[in-house]
Amino acid sequence: MNIAVFVSGRGSNLQAILESDDLKGLINVVAVLSDKVLCPAFLIAENYSIPTKSIGNKAGSLNNQELLEFLVAKKVDLIVLAGYLKLIPHEIIDVFRNRIINIHPALLPAFGGKGMYGINVHRAVFESSAKVSGATVHFVDYTYDTGKIVAQRCVDISEVKSPEEIAQKVLNIEHQLLPFVIRNIALNKIKIENNRVVITK
Ligand code: GAR
Repeated sequence: MNIAVFVSGRGSNLQAILESDDLKGLINVVAVLSDKVLCPAFLIAENYSIPTKSIGNKAGSLNNQELLEFLVAKKVDLIVLAGYLKLIPHEIIDVFRNRIINIHPALLPAFGGKGMYGINVHRAVFESSAKVSGATVHFVDYTYDTGKIVAQRCVDISEVKSPEEIAQKVLNIEHQLLPFVIRNIALNKIKIENNRVVITK
C-alpha cells in the first residue's frame, strides 16, 4: 500500500510509521508533504530517502490541482495526516474519500475543531479537569475533526500536573495507534457497516 504522509511539525508520528515493525513489507511511504517549506519532519523523510513536497502558494509549492496530480502519479492509496494542521482541499477529499486518516491528540468528538491542535488541545483537556484523555484516528471530511472515528485509545490523566504531561502520555499512545490503524487498512480489515467504522478480526 502506497502512503503519502502530511506533516506540519516535528514528525514523531511519521517516525513511528517508518520505524514500525508491524508495517514492514506492508506499506511504502512514497512522499512526505507539508504546508511548510522548511518543515522539521522533512529531515526525517530525507533520512529515509523519501521525496518531500510543500503545498501552498509559495514558489515551488504544489497548488491543489498539482497536489492531486502528484498523489495520483505516485499511486497513493492512503493519505495519513500526522500532525498536519491545514484543511485538506475538497477536490482531494472527493477523490480520496475514506482514504484519508488523521490522528488527533484527544478523544473526539470532544476537544476537536479549528484551533484545536498540539498543546492547545492538551491545555483545554487539562483545564476541563478531565480524568482521561487519549488519541483518535478518524477519516477526514471537509471540516476539522468531524469524520468518522476509526480507532481510539485512552490514558489515565487523573494525576497529571500540566498540559505537557498529558501531551507526552498521549503521544506515546499515538505512536502505537497510528501504525495499528494503517496496518489494519493495509490488511483490508477496516470496513463501514451500519454507518459505523469497524475493524474486522
Ligand atoms: C501530534 O500530537 C498530533 O496528534 C497533533 O500534532 C502532533 C504532531 O506531532 N495533531 C493535531 O493536533 C491535529 N489536530 P508530530 O509532528 O511529532 O507527529
